[in-house]
Formats: sequence, structure tokens, C-alpha cells
Amino acid sequence: MFAKRFADLHPYVPGEQPKDRPYVKLNANENPYPPSPAVARAIASFDPSSLRLYPDPDANGLRAAIASMLGPGVTPSMVFVGNGSDEVLSFVFYALFDGDRPLVFPEHTYSFYPVYAGFYGIPTRRVPLLPDFRIDEEGMLKGENCGVIFPNPNAPTGSYLPPAEIRAFLSRCPRDRAVVVDEAYIDFGGETALPLLAEFPNLVIIRTFSKSFCFAGARLGFAVANPDVIDALFTTKNSFNHFPVDALTQKIGIAACGDAVYYRDINAKISATRDRFSSVLRGQGWDVLPSMANFVFARKSGLRGRAAYERIKDAGILVRYFETPGITDFVRISIGLPEDMDRLASIMGGL
Ligand SMILES: Cc1ncc(COP(=O)(O)O)c(C=O)c1O
Repeated sequence: MFAKRFADLHPYVPGEQPKDRPYVKLNANENPYPPSPAVARAIASFDPSSLRLYPDPDANGLRAAIASMLGPGVTPSMVFVGNGSDEVLSFVFYALFDGDRPLVFPEHTYSFYPVYAGFYGIPTRRVPLLPDFRIDEEGMLKGENCGVIFPNPNAPTGSYLPPAEIRAFLSRCPRDRAVVVDEAYIDFGGETALPLLAEFPNLVIIRTFSKSFCFAGARLGFAVANPDVIDALFTTKNSFNHFPVDALTQKIGIAACGDAVYYRDINAKISATRDRFSSVLRGQGWDVLPSMANFVFARKSGLRGRAAYERIKDAGILVRYFETPGITDFVRISIGLPEDMDRLASIMGGL
């Protein structure tokens, strides 16, 4: 009854959502603050009868709002929106990567990349991280490839490349192959590579509303790239699902784009909480990698990531560990409210 290709699927496993008791959830890099009040107003004024009609398939109002939020170098024709950045990534993999040469990405990175590569039958080359867990740009430049993808900041490590380094990297890549920079976590202190789009037509930037815009539950992500790439993403989308972003999500996305000040403030709070939490953990003997994201990656000598996770879970807080060789002694901790991080720090101080 099942297709042959089905047996080859290796699905992505997201952070768990157990319901056996209330937990403080610091395992999926969600934002602890609510979306902007402008989003609440947009939901309150949403007319349910408008749900009778299909949404705008091209989400033109939303694409225009995103372009104007991003500034003068970005036009709506450079923006593509999808049902979460995971869906946008899936279309990017389909439209831009293929052939006999491998797709290159860091060995420890967002674990959906190998899943999509497997789904579309794209060969891969995973480049080990440097000994201090930063991305190895030299290593990624070696050999042939059909494209490169990495998050900046990287997940789950939090390491960050400033635009000057990304520019130097891009200038050594062939212009006929895509370099995809996934900026899911760029709003927590990093500087975007968006200005480089004017110089590098093969650069594709991916963003999400799930982290810095506080609506992982609504599913909205986007790509910014030159209009030829955006056209290719539209062709891919229209061969798969004509209406991936529903009417309510389009409306609240527009509202969120208009409240940059609110988001700048809450995300600055998260970055400050991260830095304070990291220094408390270091004072307790934890090795915490420098992070520019809304999470930290930390380990303590003699303690496996899984053991730390279990003891933290027993105390009512969910964090994440990985059974992947090379990072089994780490836990990844999303940054929540200051009081939650204080509680977690005191639990971790006792491990
Ligand atoms: C690096 C990275 N990219 C993309 C995503 C997907 O985000 P979403 O599909 O919620 O937009 C995540 C989610 O954790 C991520 O860590």
C-alpha cells in the first residue's frame, strides 16, 4: 500500500511538548513574550466571515509590509512568504539544490537540512565545526557543491558570523550556485546580511516570525532574494499548495511588521537575559558557548547532556539535548523570562 520512497523518509523531531504536568518550556527557542499589541488588535478586528474566501495566494499586502519593514534595499518582488520558514526552506531545497554535487552545510546545524536533503534526494557534505564549535568557512569552501546553507547565528551552537565575514565567504563562492543564510535568530543581537543582496545575486536569506516575532503558533516565514529566485519559489509553491499562508496569518503578519519598536525592545530584553544567564552559568562551572541567538549551548564536565536534561525536567523545566556524536555532552537552553532563567540557573548550579 505504501510508496517505495516512503520507506526512505527520516522525519525531523521537534522539541517535545509533554502534557503530564506544567513545564517551563525552554526547548524550542520560542519567545517568552506575547506578540505586539498591534497583533492582538488585528486578531480582535478580524472578520470571521472573511474566512469563506481563499486568502491572497501571493500575500501581496504582507510581502509589501515585510519589504518596507526591511528597508529601502528590499522591494516586494524580493520577498516570498510561506507556512513557517520550514516550508520556505523546503521550496528553496526543491528549486535551488540538485545534481551530482553535494549540498554543503555545517555538521552540527539545524536538523531539518539533512531531512529535506533526504526528502529531495540531494547529496550532502557536512563540514565539521571548528574545535571551538564555530562554523568552518574554509572547510565549506573546499571541493565542489550544488549550494551552501547555514544558519546565522548557527543552531544549536549560537555562533555568529558578522556581515563582513559572510561577504568574504560569498566573494569566494561561484555566482551560479545559491548560498542560503538562514537568519532565524538574527534579531537577538546579530547584524543581517540583507545589504549583501545588492552585490550577490546568489544570496538567499531566510527569516521566520516564530522566534523574534513571537508567533510560532501562527506559522509564517519568508525568503528575501533577487526576484528571479523569488519567481522560482512561487513556481514551486504553486506546484504544491496555492494558499500556504492563511488570511488571519497574513493580517497579523502585516500588523507585526508595523510594530518594530515593540519587537526591538523585547528582543533586546532576551539578549540581555541571555548574557546574564550565561555569565551566571559560567560562574557555576558550566562551559557556555558564546551565543548571539535566543538560546545557549552549555555543558559541564562529567555530565552527559541527557542526564542534565532529565534532572532539569524533573524540576519542571524542559531543555533540549542531542544524541548526535560530538555534542552529546551539551544541553540547548532557550532564553525565557528572567525569573525562569534565575530558577533554571539555581537548578543547574546544583548539578
Ligand atoms: C535555524 C532554523 N531555521 C528555521 C527554523 C524553522 O522555523 P519555523 O518553521 O517555525 O519558521 C528553525 C526552527 O527552530 C530553526 O532553528
